[in-house]
This record gives sequence, C-alpha cells and structure tokens, in this order.
Amino acid sequence: MGEISFEGRVAIVTGAGAGLGKTYALELARRGAKVVVNDLGGARDGSGASSSAADQVVDEIKQAGGQAAPNYDSVATIEGGANIVKTAVDNFGKVDIVINNAGILRDKSIVKMEEQEWDLVMAVHLKGAFCVTQPAFKVMKANGYGRVVNTASGAGLYGNFGQINYSSAKMGVLGVMHSVHIEGAKYNIKANTIAPIAASRLTEDVMPPEIFAKLDPKFVTPLVIYLVSEENQDSDMIFNCAAGWFSRTAIMCAPGTIIGDGVGDISAEQVQEQWSKITSLDEAKVLTGGVNDSFGYLAPLMTGGLSTGPKK
Ligand code: NAI
Repeated sequence: MGEISFEGRVAIVTGAGAGLGKTYALELARRGAKVVVNDLGGARDGSGASSSAADQVVDEIKQAGGQAAPNYDSVATIEGGANIVKTAVDNFGKVDIVINNAGILRDKSIVKMEEQEWDLVMAVHLKGAFCVTQPAFKVMKANGYGRVVNTASGAGLYGNFGQINYSSAKMGVLGVMHSVHIEGAKYNIKANTIAPIAASRLTEDVMPPEIFAKLDPKFVTPLVIYLVSEENQDSDMIFNCAAGWFSRTAIMCAPGTIIGDGVGDISAEQVQEQWSKITSLDEAKVLTGGVNDSFGYLAPLMTGGLSTGPKK
C-alpha cells in the first residue's frame, strides 16, 4: 500500500483551531492538502469569538511548508457556511473535503435545559453540518468528487446523562450523512461519521485524569484522514474511535415478524404476544439502500408493489 497523499486536494476543517480539528488540519496539510482552517475561536460554551485559534494553526501549517487559509466564521449560519466554502474556492479554487468538526457544549439535565441552550447546541452541531456541507456539496457535485466526515458522539449514538441537546444534535448529523451519501453517490461524493473520544477542553472535566491522559486526539486522526482520502470507497458508515480503538457501529433493521394479513385489525394483545419476535435483533442488517430497503420487509403484506418515492 502506498502512502495516502492529498496533493491537489482542498480541505475544509471546521473547528480546526484546537483539539481534534487541529490534528486533522495539520495532518492533511502535511500530506499535501490545501486547508481552510475554520474556527470561531469562542469558549467551550460557544460564547465569544477570536481569530487567534485559526491563525495559530495556519501559521503552524505554513511554517512546516504547507498551504492553509484561515476562516473565522461560525458554522451555525447559512452565511457562515457559505463564507467558509468561499474561503476555499477563493484561495484554492475548489473544495474536495469537508470535515464537520466544530463543537460546543451546554450540558444540563432534561428538566433544567433552557431553550437557548438547546438552540445554540443544535445550531452549531446539526445546522452547522448542513450550513457548511450544502455549499461544499454544490462544488463537489460540479467536480465529481467529494469526501465528507461528520462528527457524532457516543452521547448521541448511545446516550448520556445531562446532554439532551448535544445527544440530539449529534444523532442528527447522521441524517446529514445519509443525505450526502444518497444524493452524492453518482458524483463520487462519500460521507461518513465518526464518534470519537479524545482529550480536549470539551472532555477535560468529565473524565478521570488517568483516562484523559490516554486519549490523545492523535489516535483519532488516522481514521479521519483515511475516510477523507481518495483511497476510501466506503460511505454512510459510522465509526467509534479512541486511543487506538476503531470500530464500526450501525443502525440496523431486523426482519421482526408479521402480524395479520394487512387487511384485518391488529390488537395490542397480539403485539404483546409477539413481543420477543418484535424486539429480537436476530438477522438484523444495515439497510444500504436507505429507507426504501425497509419496505422490503413489508413485501408479504403488499400486492402491486410499493412506490419508492419521488426522484429529484
Ligand atoms: P474542542 O473544543 O477542542 O474543539 C472544537 C473547536 O470548535 C474549538 O476550537 C471551537 O472554537 C470551535 N468552534 C466551536 N463553535 C464553533 C462555530 N460555531 N464555528 C466554528 N468553530 C467553532 O473540542 P474537540 O474535543 O476537539 O471536539 C471536536 C468535535 O468532536 C466536536 O464536534 C465534539 O462535539 C466532538 N466530540 C468530541 C469528543 C471528545 O471526546 N473530545 C467526544 C465526542 C464528540
């Protein structure tokens, strides 16, 4: 296997002024990519702004002989996303790679969560992924090439106390991934999602120091670099990664069971009777054809076939 190169590629890394994003930006540039280093430069809770975080990473890349341009927009608005992509196109002529990484925290238990904390976290993580990916997708589609990585979290995939806003936003980025995967397939645009665990300002007070010390962000970087490379041909996948652990996780659908004949009424008691079959994950599989694949399970109940929905 040859060395993975990003010569001729243009990458956008959001939230690249610190933590995980910084490692992606440095490594992409080291391997030849021209990198837009986006960072709002605010605090962990999303307040404030500063150009210094992005500037420092751009300086570091340039000092090492790489090419980079800073951008200080928030990912959380349509204008911000458009401007981030414009920075790539104006400076480097195109965009091949988007790593949606920018993130903040506003943790509260469900009963204490305020509307503003919900909205802000959704805006940065979920709307931000859309705001940056949409304009980038247009450029990628025109060029017939693209690689997108979104950042979820175990808190979204599996749940966590005190993070209803963050968990919901992080699950939401799977929707962004699915859409880019499905709508980008014929343009060689691939989208994947990572759920990392790494030492950063987001996690410094939530982990015991001895565990924090073992979670260097550099252990996540290689997976992300591979996923945004030309070599990677996989799309619509979700990965756990931390400290050298790499694992695929997935949303799966089990065949379950069929009750009734699709005409007569079904009772709650029949559902109760079949509960072990309904809840069984035996023979569950990933639906690689999107939601239309799930219609296949209904086939025995259907005559005349199902519409597969509008194609645009
Ligand atoms: P970090 O706080 O070190 O880096 C996040 C960067 O995003 C910061 O430099 C911040 O200024 C920037 N940012 C925040 N809001 C922004 C906005 N609106 N526009 C542009 N930039 C903005 O955090 P870390 O740990 O490196 O997190 C990176 C991503 O990984 C985040 O999406 C986070 O939710 C996710 N993640 C991290 C985990 C961890 O264990 N560190 C666990 C699971 C997910």
